[in-house]
Amino acid sequence: MNIDGKHYRTIWLNADGSTVEIIDQTKLPFRFETVTLRALDDAARAISTMQVRGAPLIGATAAYGVCLGLRDDQSDEALDRACETLAATRPTAINLRWALDEMKHAVRNLPREARLAVAYVRAAQICDEDVENNGRIGEHGLGIIRAHAEKKKGERVNILTHCNAGWLACVDWGTALAPIYRAHDEGIPVHVWVDETRPRNQGASLTAFELGAHGVPYTLVADNTGGHLMQKKMVDLCIVGTDRTTATGDVANKIGTYLKALAARDNNVPFLVALPFSTIDWSLEDGSTIPIEERGGDEVKFMTGKLKDGSIATVQIAPDWSQAANFGFDVTPARLISGFITERGVTPATRDGLATLYPEHASKRGA
Ligand code: MRU
Repeated sequence: MNIDGKHYRTIWLNADGSTVEIIDQTKLPFRFETVTLRALDDAARAISTMQVRGAPLIGATAAYGVCLGLRDDQSDEALDRACETLAATRPTAINLRWALDEMKHAVRNLPREARLAVAYVRAAQICDEDVENNGRIGEHGLGIIRAHAEKKKGERVNILTHCNAGWLACVDWGTALAPIYRAHDEGIPVHVWVDETRPRNQGASLTAFELGAHGVPYTLVADNTGGHLMQKKMVDLCIVGTDRTTATGDVANKIGTYLKALAARDNNVPFLVALPFSTIDWSLEDGSTIPIEERGGDEVKFMTGKLKDGSIATVQIAPDWSQAANFGFDVTPARLISGFITERGVTPATRDGLATLYPEHASKRGA
């Protein structure tokens, strides 16, 4: 994606061939800053403090985190330590575990002296594959948006999204936003309703930032607005991302996604989930078994923003004595999902739908 005319990915290897650069997403939308990751702990911290976030980008950062963990020591112990440290950073996004498994698989059986170079190659491939897959998700989702535009005879298509499943959540393009970018670039009139996404406001700070940077028309709404918009027929379809999808099609995504899916069902609005294969957890049958991240209550009690004088400040929004609970994700049951947009095509949110697209995984589980 372009920022001020310059193309960026969200993560890249520096010219020194070993340190890794990320965009610090905790500073957006007010400051565009990058941070250099030099060691395993830098990568782990970047993921847990959410300098990088979004399931695919968490996976890509973990892959490079393994490389950084092997820089000074290529032993089995160093590999295990890197994978354990990174796996402990965030519990819900399955892309993290997937990327660590990929890295272990790539280097484990190699002689020590060959491990580091191969690790960097595999991490780079994980990034490139993410970009490619999201490009395909964009293609497949474009067909759906185009069909809505044709039905509306050229009137703008209104799409509601929750959290940030755009290029900032991935290496490039995004999942839920990829079809929107494609549609906009093709001249299809699209408009996005952007949920603010409390408590961390990924919609207000990140989705709004990237849609604006690309020139896609959007309107920011408070989190609880979606139901009203759908009742008033102001939403043609919802598209969201996912952090983990079970083999049966249940979807964990940012807290509040479930309520949007309920409102969509009540108002006959298609509710679509965009995802690459690396977000599917073939070992789980039931969304209620997905681990849900709980973060510190201060993320609910405090908000960070720009003051009128341009300075950035964090302010408290509840009484000092308030207890706050901060569940990061909720689970939307497959029955509320109209379809999945994947890199292999669009499919029903069912076990059979996923098995048809990914027979190699489904057959391993005897489906
Ligand atoms: O807590 P976050 O910001 O990492 O949550 C991100 C989301 O919920 C996204 O919708 C999800 O990771 C899909 S990203 C393509």
